[in-house]
Amino acid sequence: DPKLAEELMKHYTGELTGFVRVGPKGYFFPHKYKECAAEFYNMSVKPDDIFINTFPRSGTTWTQEMIWLLQNNLDFERAKNTPLALRYPFLDFSMLVHPELEKQMFEENKQDEEKLNIVKIANMPGVEKVENVPSPRFIKSHLPLSLLPPTLLDKAKVVYVARDPRDVVVSVYHFCKMHKIHGAPDNFKTFWNYFRKGLHYYAPIFEHVKEAWNERNHPNMLFIFYEELQENLPAVVRNVASFLGKKVTNEQVQQICDHLSFNNFKHNKAVNHSLLKKINFVNTDQTFIRKGKVGSWREYFDEEMEMQADEWFTINLRDSDLVYPTFPTKCI
Ligand code: A3P
Repeated sequence: DPKLAEELMKHYTGELTGFVRVGPKGYFFPHKYKECAAEFYNMSVKPDDIFINTFPRSGTTWTQEMIWLLQNNLDFERAKNTPLALRYPFLDFSMLVHPELEKQMFEENKQDEEKLNIVKIANMPGVEKVENVPSPRFIKSHLPLSLLPPTLLDKAKVVYVARDPRDVVVSVYHFCKMHKIHGAPDNFKTFWNYFRKGLHYYAPIFEHVKEAWNERNHPNMLFIFYEELQENLPAVVRNVASFLGKKVTNEQVQQICDHLSFNNFKHNKAVNHSLLKKINFVNTDQTFIRKGKVGSWREYFDEEMEMQADEWFTINLRDSDLVYPTFPTKCI
């Protein structure tokens, strides 16, 4: 719909210019995706790689930190002192950065070596970023499974985290307002109307989630819900540990849960995107670890939007056993 596209560009693109829709499911990406698509799809996967795969704002960071700690003998010191983005690089990040903004970031930060380094790492093409890191590699991606290497699940481990799409849309909205590369309309309702039509990068969310849900019984796939993390974090820690083949004592589980608690996490500089603040990549005083609640979409949806959401769930879950209204389903 050209009219909608025009409107979208006006309100919502931030520093991005132009979008592409990809494949039969119509995944929506910034233009730059086209340059990277083949690299992502053909990247070499190693047997000890551990991928975290999510739709944005579904609990990625929370789960990444848990996986990293379990794989690294609970090295809390290193976790606190090394930004997560370096320990667990984000494959598809650079495709989100518009070349003009990239130039601007280099220009603004070129006098300061530390900041320049952050800019360089942030803008390094994803495949290059993960290629030479020592194994086992930790790789974060928001790409749907169908756009990652087809052999991924047969070769490496994947943890997928899903979240109630209504909470996701609220979280994405705040995230877009916060980051220079995104931008968002002032009005949440306008944003919602784009999002539910799949007009946001990595959308449509239901297709994204269903792709992983359909693989949930693959031995190399662990599918979890954000809501499970909220409801019973120790159980999820044990579940993830067992998926990774790690033994943990009760005391260790407790230590991990303390480290991952919302308050500790919010103030943890290694995970809360303060690096991006340093390089002036972030617009406002909002925080990356924002509210951390289940069901806070209710504060944003009026009656009409609630009905639209019901219909959105029904239509999109018609061909799936991920059933509304029990989605998010319990799976521990
Ligand atoms: P909200 O914006 O709803 O607060 P991602 O890491 O995939 O971008 O997900 C970000 C969302 O996870 C944010 O949701 C963030 O607050 C929440 N989150 C991150 N760490 C958390 C924690 N330790 N406890 C609860 N929620 C957390």
